[in-house]
Amino acid sequence: MNRPNIVLAITGASGSAYAIRLAQILLGAGYHIHVIVSGAARQVAMQELDVTMPSDDAPTSEWLQFTRTALATGTAERWGFRDWSTDFTGTFSVHGIGDYSAGIASGSFLTGGMVICPCSMGTMSSIACGASTNLVQRSADVHLKERRPLVLVPRETPLSLIALENMTRLSHAGATVLPAMPGFYHQPDCVADLVDFVVARICDHLDVEHSLVRRWGEAE
Ligand SMILES: Cc1cc2nc3c(=O)[nH]c(=O)nc-3n(C[C@H](O)[C@H](O)[C@H](O)COP(=O)(O)O)c2cc1C
Repeated sequence: MNRPNIVLAITGASGSAYAIRLAQILLGAGYHIHVIVSGAARQVAMQELDVTMPSDDAPTSEWLQFTRTALATGTAERWGFRDWSTDFTGTFSVHGIGDYSAGIASGSFLTGGMVICPCSMGTMSSIACGASTNLVQRSADVHLKERRPLVLVPRETPLSLIALENMTRLSHAGATVLPAMPGFYHQPDCVADLVDFVVARICDHLDVEHSLVRRWGEAE
């Protein structure tokens, strides 16, 4: 069976939990996810969640186990995440950040879209100027030139004029700038509800089905 491909790049902005939760939902929905992790993203995950991400060349089984457990252990254990036992029908490839020979570095490799979650200001600025100096930036550039969905999930506050201009430029180029800014109108009970709010919006923009949060206007 050909599973739809989605690229999930994880960079070194705060919010590792968003990335892991998103990976759980994509795998639960049957996607093949192409994961790229920056060195800074590994540092942030260690700092925020007290977990060590597997190496890029670790077996897929280790990545699957990490994705299943990372929000159920360490710091996030007390954040109230549900659905640990979600069956993952999707599959994984993990690409080294310097591996330009990966399929996702080329426009001829078809994907349903790419998400950079969370997206550091550094990665955003490199994409905004077309630098393509690592696989995250190159794959993002490919998604822009091929006019495929590219969702950036920046996290920074306050925002400098440079960051604001980069976001504007990327939005003009066709990217969706979806800041990690959870709303509170759905009356969250816990950190997990705030994370799920943002992940739900990302899924909406990638056309991925989910039932993470009740939609505004939907009956209880
Ligand atoms: C614990 C921690 C939290 C960070 N939070 C942010 C953040 O919220 N936003 C951001 O743009 N950079 C943040 N940084 C800085 C980036 O990791 C740094 O700029 C890095 O060069 C980004 O590289 P990358 O884009 O290749 O991942 C953080 C770094 C650490 C260690």
